[in-house]
Amino acid sequence: MKNITILGSTGSIGTSALKVIEAKKEEFNVLGISGYSNFELLKEQIEKFNPKYICIGDENKAKELESIYPEKIIYFGDEGLKTMGALDEADIVLTAISGAVGIEATVEAIKKEKRIALANKETMVAAGEYINKLLKDYPKAEIIPVDSEHSALFQSMQGSSKDEVKTLIITASGGTFRGKKLEELKDVTVEQALKHPNWSMGRKITIDSSTLVNKGLEVIEAHMLFNIDYDNIEVLVHPQSIIHSMVEFEDSSIIAQIGVPDMKLPIQYAFTYPKREASSELERLNLRKLKELTFDEVDSEVFKGVDLAFKAGRTGKTMPCVFNSANEVAVELFLKGKIKFLEIYEIIEKAMQQHEVKEIDSLEVIKDVDKETRKWVYSNYARD
Ligand SMILES: NC(=O)c1ccc[n+]([C@@H]2O[C@H](COP(=O)([O-])OP(=O)(O)OC[C@H]3O[C@@H](n4cnc5c(N)ncnc54)[C@H](OP(=O)(O)O)[C@@H]3O)[C@@H](O)[C@H]2O)c1
Repeated sequence: MKNITILGSTGSIGTSALKVIEAKKEEFNVLGISGYSNFELLKEQIEKFNPKYICIGDENKAKELESIYPEKIIYFGDEGLKTMGALDEADIVLTAISGAVGIEATVEAIKKEKRIALANKETMVAAGEYINKLLKDYPKAEIIPVDSEHSALFQSMQGSSKDEVKTLIITASGGTFRGKKLEELKDVTVEQALKHPNWSMGRKITIDSSTLVNKGLEVIEAHMLFNIDYDNIEVLVHPQSIIHSMVEFEDSSIIAQIGVPDMKLPIQYAFTYPKREASSELERLNLRKLKELTFDEVDSEVFKGVDLAFKAGRTGKTMPCVFNSANEVAVELFLKGKIKFLEIYEIIEKAMQQHEVKEIDSLEVIKDVDKETRKWVYSNYARD
């Protein structure tokens, strides 16, 4: 029996993970779950999965949970999340929180040398250099990617060494606005941006998909996870979202991972790796029904998220953190109707321009840069 802690159990990845676990009750036990604001869903999950540890955002809500479930161990807030990342009994920690707030819990899980099923890409983007140094100090800790593209890359590289890899080819659906021109994106609404053609996901990542900043985050994440040079990472638009990403090897062979667009597969693989297991939750891909698989370049004149990410990634040090933090606040402001869609790019670009790059010699540096960047964006763009 493997004990799993799910950080962000009330989100899109978190609920999918619980379905994966429910289908394999004999193999996985839910040790701990964390939600932030969705109290009712968290309660439902407690009733159904009976976890020993629970974490919620707010202290008062934590007290309420304590009175309902006196036998449970309840934490709250950022400190609670850190504690949840470090539970001794855990075998696997799934980081399914949205945003850089997931960094510290991931750090704690590494220090306890856990398997980390990493969905929270912002952690690898903002703090990748720091995390990679930490992994050297805690060699038994392992990060298995959950992001479908990185899971695909990871799966495609099984049995090969890094020296044999020529190119990582990350596929992109192209998002809601694929094919649109700048002029057409000036006045798009939040509702329009939240309609993803192929994937059902949380609000933040859905907006990131529509700007292709998500693909940019994934480029940096791929560099950090697999230690492949940015010159050897490519993004290809593949609207059908059937090929989840591919690896081109030195002998020109390309190995791809393909399947239905459903996060339950990469989540389960991160839990069972190196084994592959059947599950009633996993749908088979019917190849006969596939009409076509197409590939195209990213229109970088319109969707600047990928180029900005390459720039941030190549600059390295604290710049990817700025790219991520500026985007997080920009998306929040867009969702609140305070800025226009295209201003998301402007905010990221200007935040990067005003930033003085620093060496990352501690986690504090990342926390400070994250805080400063957020403050800069709020003070320049959070108009009433
Ligand atoms: N969804 C996907 O298909 C997908 C695919 C690949 C990668 N990812 C990555 O996986 C992560 C999660 O994505 P998602 O789509 O599942 O997001 P989501 O649906 O928005 O869920 C986010 C989770 O994090 C919790 N949370 C939010 N703010 C928090 C805070 N300040 N402190 C602690 N917990 C907080 C939420 O709690 P409440 O809901 O209770 O407030 C929820 O449980 C992201 O990094 C995303 O990029 C997602």
